[in-house]
Amino acid sequence: MNWIYINEMSKYVGQTVTLKGWVANRRESKGIAFVNLRDGSGFCQCVIAEDKVSETFDLTKSMSLESSVSISGEVLKDEKQLGGYELQASSFEIIDVAEDYPITPKEHGVDFLLERRHLWLRSKRQWAIMKVRNATIYAIHNFFQQKDFSLMDSPIFTGSAAEGTTDLFKTDYFGQEAYLAQTGQLYGEAMAMAQGKIYTFGPTFRAEKSKTRRHLTEFWMVEPEMAFYDLDMDMDLIEEMLRAVVNEVIDRCKTELEILGRDIEALKSVNQKFPRISYDEAVEMLTGKKEVNGVNAIQMLGNDLKTTQEEIIKVNAEIEEREAIVNDNVSKKGIKNFNRNRVAQLKAQVKELEEDARNIPQWIKSAENFEHGSDLGGSDETVLTRLFGCPIMVYNWPRKIKAFYMKRVEGNFDYVKGVDVLAPEGYGEIVGGSERETDLEFLIEQIQEENLNQEDYEWYLDLRRFGSVPHAGFGLGLERLITWICKLKHIREASPFPRTSQRLKP
Ligand code: 4AD
Ligand code: MG
Repeated sequence: MNWIYINEMSKYVGQTVTLKGWVANRRESKGIAFVNLRDGSGFCQCVIAEDKVSETFDLTKSMSLESSVSISGEVLKDEKQLGGYELQASSFEIIDVAEDYPITPKEHGVDFLLERRHLWLRSKRQWAIMKVRNATIYAIHNFFQQKDFSLMDSPIFTGSAAEGTTDLFKTDYFGQEAYLAQTGQLYGEAMAMAQGKIYTFGPTFRAEKSKTRRHLTEFWMVEPEMAFYDLDMDMDLIEEMLRAVVNEVIDRCKTELEILGRDIEALKSVNQKFPRISYDEAVEMLTGKKEVNGVNAIQMLGNDLKTTQEEIIKVNAEIEEREAIVNDNVSKKGIKNFNRNRVAQLKAQVKELEEDARNIPQWIKSAENFEHGSDLGGSDETVLTRLFGCPIMVYNWPRKIKAFYMKRVEGNFDYVKGVDVLAPEGYGEIVGGSERETDLEFLIEQIQEENLNQEDYEWYLDLRRFGSVPHAGFGLGLERLITWICKLKHIREASPFPRTSQRLKP
């Protein structure tokens, strides 16, 4: 038996091999069973013909969805197949006949699927997303390792807050209060003073009660920290990293991105220079006071609303036409079925359009009434990135809305040298970073102002007492990046077992 993986088939054309996997799909027509096999490395059509396997053919009838099987046969090239190859079976063995599988090719609600996340992970789309996740993680390590950054594992149990105290997960640490890490940054800063350039890459936790498409309570963050870097160098590094990582994923995940129907050109926008706009400019763009390439944000939203409403009317008309075909007395069964499926798709489309039509007026209101000095909300970020076709960097933020450790802008102490990177296509913040404050007295003031216990931060303050240097870093939210790369509607699909305020199981 020559057991190979599906993604190795190109090397075995004309040879007899064995594939081991699960039945992802199956259909039968006179004397031939078509089994779509998946083995973790890919998907492959296996053709089991009665005249090739003779008396065992009847056993193919027990190959229910997700049954585990081993199939041997000849590898054939077939351009029409997803992976490009097909297996002509000469023998097969059923390892385990699966019980009635709950996830069928028909549409399921997302709650139904999330309840069965342990099984949902097997479906083609989820498989593709998890492969993209793997490639993204690898590309991130690749980038930093090639640049001679040291990987640092920062602690998960921490005794101090870094990103504000509102969304901390508290735990009982032998009678002492401890928090799950919101960030590894403060520890990263300490390690940067020992190793020069470091990055942490691990899980971080935020008790986010909000139900948004962008928030998880447990997510992975990459946090590089570099001694002797200022904000400009920090932004250069962010740009270089995103470019390298996204290009590598495009390269490695062609099949996966095809399964996801992802428009690669939109991802290639990372190859443009990322526009760098100050917070003040961003506010002017958002409120329509400043145009971007001749486009006014408020007008753009008004146009969006109009097109959305027109689209709803158009799609509803098509639904009516097709429903008439479904219900008439003359059309053939196949035609009726085709139209029934189309109607289901169109209805889902209308639902989304109607959601947009409800949201856009709120976005307009939020953009028009945006108050200088406040934080950009999710919809504000969406509007801003819609004005550009590539990632943008918003820097120099009002001090009041940013973390205590950010360095003030020289000559204008109401602002800090922070940067947020917003992903295009409405995805919003994927990176947050800054140059770090080095002034010991000011940091102590900040800690007091935030009502934090100075004693807990003495170790951090030591970094400013013993050979303090300018330094900077940033945090990239892994799932946020994957959500954009895969163009997912919701961040929860970017995590194997997502944790949100609504979900702890499975
Ligand atoms: O902007 P944040 O809060 O920055 C920090 O934590 C800094 N300590 C980073 C640093 O300078 N070392 O978070 C950084 C990124 C965000 O841009 C976002 O991509 C992601 O982490 N993120 C979340 N992702 C999913 N769910 C959440 N609840 C997230 N909160 C932040
Ligand atoms: Mg942030």
